[in-house]
Amino acid sequence: MTRNFQPTPSLPHGRVHHVLVSREQIARRVAELAGEITSVYEGRELTIVVVLTGALTFTADLIRRLPLPLRIEPVAVSSYTGEATRPKKGEFRLPLPEELRNRDVLIVDDIFDSGQTMAILVESAYGAGARDVKRCVLLRKDRPDLADRGEVDYFGFDIPDEFVVGYGLDFNGYYRNLPDIGVLQIHAEDSDQ
Ligand code: IMP
Ligand code: MG
Repeated sequence: MTRNFQPTPSLPHGRVHHVLVSREQIARRVAELAGEITSVYEGRELTIVVVLTGALTFTADLIRRLPLPLRIEPVAVSSYTGEATRPKKGEFRLPLPEELRNRDVLIVDDIFDSGQTMAILVESAYGAGARDVKRCVLLRKDRPDLADRGEVDYFGFDIPDEFVVGYGLDFNGYYRNLPDIGVLQIHAEDSDQ
């Protein structure tokens, strides 16, 4: 499906080459995921750990479809420095609350790439006393080079190993406000060669 992004005020790193997941596809899948999560957690109280900043948009849409008693705890883990497109070792910029005792935690992130961010968060949540920790991401990136990156419990879409932006996902801090998920031109041109 091809669709042009709405004109955006500043695109410092190039245009979006093509839409990979449209806003309509996202909305449908988020509703399905929410249904799945609701049926699993029925009768329980949930603590959603939202991984800033990328998972903000996804989490905002997801939680409005979860008719459960829930609380939200924000966390931030740095994965990149500057404009690199491969994660560097994760470091908390905003730590988890120290006390998650006996809580059922659902970690929500935008994308599962190397799995490093998720692994750190799961370990920290159990370390803070969580009773149960599950992992939810919107996108699961295909990384056949990483046999041992772990798993997630809920995901929206499997995508190829390309650098994507939009719907919360950024490149160097930009593009998070785009309503669809797309591949940056600079990256798409790289893989055309
Ligand atoms: P992981 O720790 O390698 O699984 O990386 C996950 C984190 O890297 C996510 O929380 C994203 O912030 C970021 N990330 C990985 N791939 C992309 C991408 O294609 N676009 C934007 N951010 C990405
Ligand atoms: Mg992130």
